[in-house]
Amino acid sequence: MCGIVGYTGAKEAAPVLLSGLRKLEYRGYDSAGLAVLDEAKGEIEIVKAKGRLDVLAEKTGNGSNINGHCGIGHTRWATHGEPSEENAHPHYSDDCAVVAVHNGIIENYQELKEKLIRHGYSFHSQTDTEVAVKLVDYYYKKYFGTPIDAMNRAMVRMRGSYALGLLFKDYPGEIYAARKDSPLVLGKADGDAFLASDVAAILEYTRDIYYLGDLQCARLKDGELTFYNLDGDEITIEPHRIEWDAKAAEKEGYEHFMMKEIYEQPRAIRDTLNSVIKDGRLDLSSVGISDEELASADQICMIGCGSAYHICVALQYVIEDLAGIPVRIELASEYRYREAVLSKDTLCIIISQSGETADSIAALRKAKEHGLRTLSVVNVVGSTIARESDHVFYTMAGPEISVATTKAYSAQLAACYAIAVRLASVKGRLDDARERELAEELLAIPDKISRILEDKNRIQWFASKFASSKDGFLIGRGIDYATAMEGSLKMKEISYIHSEAYAAGELKHGTISLIEQGTLVIGILTQPHVMEKTLSNMVECKSRGAYLMGITTKDHVEIEDTVDFAVYIPEIDPHFATILAVIPMQLLGYYLSVSKGLDVDKPRNLAKSVTVE
Ligand code: AGP
Repeated sequence: MCGIVGYTGAKEAAPVLLSGLRKLEYRGYDSAGLAVLDEAKGEIEIVKAKGRLDVLAEKTGNGSNINGHCGIGHTRWATHGEPSEENAHPHYSDDCAVVAVHNGIIENYQELKEKLIRHGYSFHSQTDTEVAVKLVDYYYKKYFGTPIDAMNRAMVRMRGSYALGLLFKDYPGEIYAARKDSPLVLGKADGDAFLASDVAAILEYTRDIYYLGDLQCARLKDGELTFYNLDGDEITIEPHRIEWDAKAAEKEGYEHFMMKEIYEQPRAIRDTLNSVIKDGRLDLSSVGISDEELASADQICMIGCGSAYHICVALQYVIEDLAGIPVRIELASEYRYREAVLSKDTLCIIISQSGETADSIAALRKAKEHGLRTLSVVNVVGSTIARESDHVFYTMAGPEISVATTKAYSAQLAACYAIAVRLASVKGRLDDARERELAEELLAIPDKISRILEDKNRIQWFASKFASSKDGFLIGRGIDYATAMEGSLKMKEISYIHSEAYAAGELKHGTISLIEQGTLVIGILTQPHVMEKTLSNMVECKSRGAYLMGITTKDHVEIEDTVDFAVYIPEIDPHFATILAVIPMQLLGYYLSVSKGLDVDKPRNLAKSVTVE
């Protein structure tokens, strides 16, 4: 999604903006631009470029061709209007008195545009952002007020989501910001002040991060931050301390962030589990939910998008089996627009790495409106979902840069396993000894993942054979079906090979007609009670020409009688098998993408954090 950076202080602004934008590249974008206020000339210079940031860097001599100490920059992920220089941000009022960058969607932009046209404004781009900046300009000129006054008036009129960074020609050295439902963070250090869509862009300057709330504004001036509510009154926002290091967001010798993050999984899982396993038992006190509150849940509703949803699918099986209470799973984008019938004692678990996914935020708010208790599993400290949930389980994955999630997904799985085990205990389904046994099983996961990674060369070889495939199918039953869904997404999103995940028993109800000579079918075979069944579904595919890959535990070498290529994971309690079985699929997705020469970390059309619906 779009990335915003703002800087005002003693340094030349353009190089700072470019370096900040580079740190936001992972969010996904298709054009970029920056605007810098040249105090000497009293003018705002704007440069935009379609394509990669390198084009913008070249156009500006790495920022050295633009003078001024105060500016805003932007990477655009197209929503309204194609990727082009015209549609790229910053956008500006016709006299360039007000200039803005924006992340989000102004839903009523057509209606506002018509109003502005009636007042003599004309438009040069297809974007909703141009409407937002001209609306601010309109109120600024109409009431001769301050920037805050104009922004507040505009905020009252705009519907949708926005994080805005603005420059006003009359206010050199100052940046203004406003926010509703799109992420925006601020920081200050040594007389400088910063604005960004996420922490990664400003972490090298400060670890004390201010999160602007909904319908709030800010002014950055002389190294100070001033915050305002919708009435224009000054308000106080306390900073959050970020513990992770700026280095954590660097490649550290790996060719791609994705491989680095795959390798960080043992550490991410260990840290996450250590936050809730005390003296060999599960203790969710750091999450802020008591055993009594857990015990009072008569149903669980799990909500997420993409990979986070796949965790819900896996946990549905795990929680129902261990804790014996009904689990309902919902795609956030669906849940938000329907009236799901849930008991008042339902515990809603919202899963989101970024904590800023627009649909997941809306789903959380809906659950709260219905009076349900909410628990979120979030990786980004201080994000919207974390702030608005009743309880937060922070995963300890550290910053995840690659668009394809790996370590955040695994850390979320580990967190959810921990919740499932504690829930089962408080529901009286596990005695002390069994809880300790499962806790031990969880703590053994990191080493088991390291062992799977030692075997990565076989997967690399296999990927080179299948890099020209057009299709693939992943099948499994129960928990293995959930793993197949995540494996399929990993293949699709970074290698652009079409793949589908199927509950193994469903294949012959239609999809098997797509199997032909050489089609890759991957079977996930970690659940002992259904392994034979899935194997026989694989045989059905083989007799129609499929090439079979099977993923199973080390004690099931007999699958080699059936499959063409076997991959083994260490033995594990079957409830937790997804967290191991997904690793070969992550590696396969990665190596397929590398073999095809694709941009592994920044796949086409995708954004890291989907902050619009
Ligand atoms: C998976 O690799 C994707 N990055 C995507 O499906 C992601 O899991 C989804 O957009 C949800 O993001 P969130 O966890 O930040 O809410």
